[in-house]
Amino acid sequence: MQLRYIEGGRSEDSPELLAIAVPKGTRTLEDELSSIDEALDGALQRALATGDITGRLTDEVLIYGSDRGPARVLLLGIGPASQVTREVIRRFAGRAVRVAERLRLKQLTLSLDGLGNIPDEDRAQSATEGAALAAWRFSELMTPEEEDSPSNILAVDLVGEGDTGSLTAGVAAGAATARGENFARTLQSRPGNIATPSHLADEATRMAHEFGLGVTVFDEARLEREGMHAILAVSRGSVEEARLIILEHKGGADGHAPLVLVGKGLSFDAGGISLKPPAGMESMKFDMSGGAAVIGAMQAIAELEVKANVVGLVPSSENLPSGSAVKPGDVIQSLAGKTIEVINTDAEGRLILADALAYGAALEPEAMVDCATLTGGVVVALGHHAAGVLGKNDSLVNELISAGEASGERCWRLPLWDEYRRQLDSTTADLKNIGGREGSTISAACFLAEFVRDTNWAHLDIAGTAYGDGKVPYQREGGYGVPTRLLVEWVRSRVG
Ligand code: BES
Ligand code: MN
Ligand code: ZN
Repeated sequence: MQLRYIEGGRSEDSPELLAIAVPKGTRTLEDELSSIDEALDGALQRALATGDITGRLTDEVLIYGSDRGPARVLLLGIGPASQVTREVIRRFAGRAVRVAERLRLKQLTLSLDGLGNIPDEDRAQSATEGAALAAWRFSELMTPEEEDSPSNILAVDLVGEGDTGSLTAGVAAGAATARGENFARTLQSRPGNIATPSHLADEATRMAHEFGLGVTVFDEARLEREGMHAILAVSRGSVEEARLIILEHKGGADGHAPLVLVGKGLSFDAGGISLKPPAGMESMKFDMSGGAAVIGAMQAIAELEVKANVVGLVPSSENLPSGSAVKPGDVIQSLAGKTIEVINTDAEGRLILADALAYGAALEPEAMVDCATLTGGVVVALGHHAAGVLGKNDSLVNELISAGEASGERCWRLPLWDEYRRQLDSTTADLKNIGGREGSTISAACFLAEFVRDTNWAHLDIAGTAYGDGKVPYQREGGYGVPTRLLVEWVRSRVG
């Protein structure tokens, strides 16, 4: 898909569809739009005069033009100009793409004018993200569609007033970030029988070669030699072998401490011997969402040539019951040397993360962030509109909250106080893998904290935000790629 900013565009070319944002209370046209209105013989002005479009968030009006200008002009209300955020812009772009699809168009033009006071680069980045995310779809497992189905958008042109350098840079950042997130969504969407741990490793390897990242994959023999028995324990019930995927971006000075991103890559979570109930179990193919986001973020970080050293770690296993599976009561070893009593085999994410976090901590990073569909508890606490963020370092947690706000992938803090750690006390091993129903998101994070030593670390629980019903205009039902954008935003913010 082609995404580009066209300087001075709009009036001389005649797009099939030009989408324009209309802030609430608009009565007359801004200067930038009067030339288009001339080509439309005053139709824009008449639409405003009827009151059919006053800028409410639900307003949508389609006007037909002539061969002197755009063939169609789509007016989309965006609410009060003072309340326009980057997320409002993403949604505006997503709505425009949805209309273009319905009209079976292959191309559309988005106007960046009238989008509040958002700086040029952010405005262009958000519009590009919204358009590119909206246009993505997962169709590789479906028989090709019939002719009256919606189209695939092949090109989005962005036009509008502003500093050309900033707008062009914003489009490039948005395009790379959305490509990374769309890759994450593709990996998420693939079912468990396709997106196995070895498939994720192969896809990460292919991507790494294409984008110039270093890549190492630990197979089971290597995991054994390294002492990563917690990752191996989770895979024991499955014929699919475990993997640890290591991606490296060297954008910083040689030997400068890296930022480490860790993502849970549980390719399918049936619960193991502590088997989950059947209803909704199919959505546990999304239990590799954190890993997918780390792979997608690493792709974007490479494409954007971010000036930092960044390491992505994705431990990947499949959690199934079988005669060889780990059992409740079993005690397993971990890379960090701590012994774990497995009370519930469905608390498997923290086991594979324990080894990956210990490996990451040994890299002595500047900071380490993990993301994981870790607990049902976070869905109860925060629903589907915020991930949980937990960590002891206030500034790191605040950086992630800010990156969440900017990227539209928001997170909200839960405490990580020592009092909760007692829920993991074991009479047999160094710790148990579950801490009961109460505050389960917090005791899960306490578990992870046992494996990071003194690393500046924070954890994102994305069980409620990684996938969903697709009600956000630029999303679709299924995998959201969350928190790819947040991770890219955070890493870029660290570079300044
Ligand atoms: N993958 C699940 C968490 C999850 C729940 C993700 C809902 C997405 C939606 C995780 O491995 C899990 O099973 N957690 C259990 C642990 C419990 C059995 C101790 C949970 O939180 O319910
Ligand atoms: Mn589980
Ligand atoms: Zn899980």
